[in-house]
Amino acid sequence: MSITLGFDVYGTLIDTHGVIGELEKIIGDDAARFSQIWREKQLEYAFRRGLMRQYKNFSVCTRDALDYTAAFLNHNFSDQQKQTLNSAYSTLPAFGDVIAGLAAAKDAGFNLYAFSNGQAEAVHTVLSNAGIREYFADVVSVDEVGTFKPDPEVYHHFVRATKAQLENAWLISSNGFDVIGALAAGMKAVWVQRSNAVVFDPWEYQPTLIVDSIRDLHRKIDRWQIGETKS
Ligand code: 2OP
Repeated sequence: MSITLGFDVYGTLIDTHGVIGELEKIIGDDAARFSQIWREKQLEYAFRRGLMRQYKNFSVCTRDALDYTAAFLNHNFSDQQKQTLNSAYSTLPAFGDVIAGLAAAKDAGFNLYAFSNGQAEAVHTVLSNAGIREYFADVVSVDEVGTFKPDPEVYHHFVRATKAQLENAWLISSNGFDVIGALAAGMKAVWVQRSNAVVFDPWEYQPTLIVDSIRDLHRKIDRWQIGETKS
């Protein structure tokens, strides 16, 4: 029985707040607050476009969210600065535990895919720039079905595209809405909680597993599987 892992990209493998350094050069101390609002608005725009059936790709959501955040925080960016910030999105860094965790999961025989709101080309680029593209069999993008996480259609698409069996398909994500979306669509899901300050949504769904890093992810999934077989 082979297990397929779909790794969420932005916020799970790739640190979206890696853009703070570039922001600091332009707006100094407001950089962290800017980055937080930019990311929240980017996701909100994806949710809204999904609900409204008005799909435009994730780079558009990112770009529009940058414009919103600049206006909201009263920063007047030049076109050149906006371009620098939008392109910083393709050179964001991976979190510190990612290389070790992916290498161990791959060695343990799991099928690894990147699974993202981002378009495939953008995801290939950010993963290559972060030095982690080689760990994945492929990239599965929501762009192929024209909607966004957590629309159930994108999780069904992931299972179809990877030829996985639903019961052996796991989402690995730090984004609570993504974990709940995958569980609701019948997948298993690991919530990566790197900080105790992050709270899981108090809905009727619980992650199959919670980890504080992806370093020993493969062992935790193996242990879970053994527990399931015994019970
Ligand atoms: C991703 O799909 C949700 O931004 C996150 O990569």
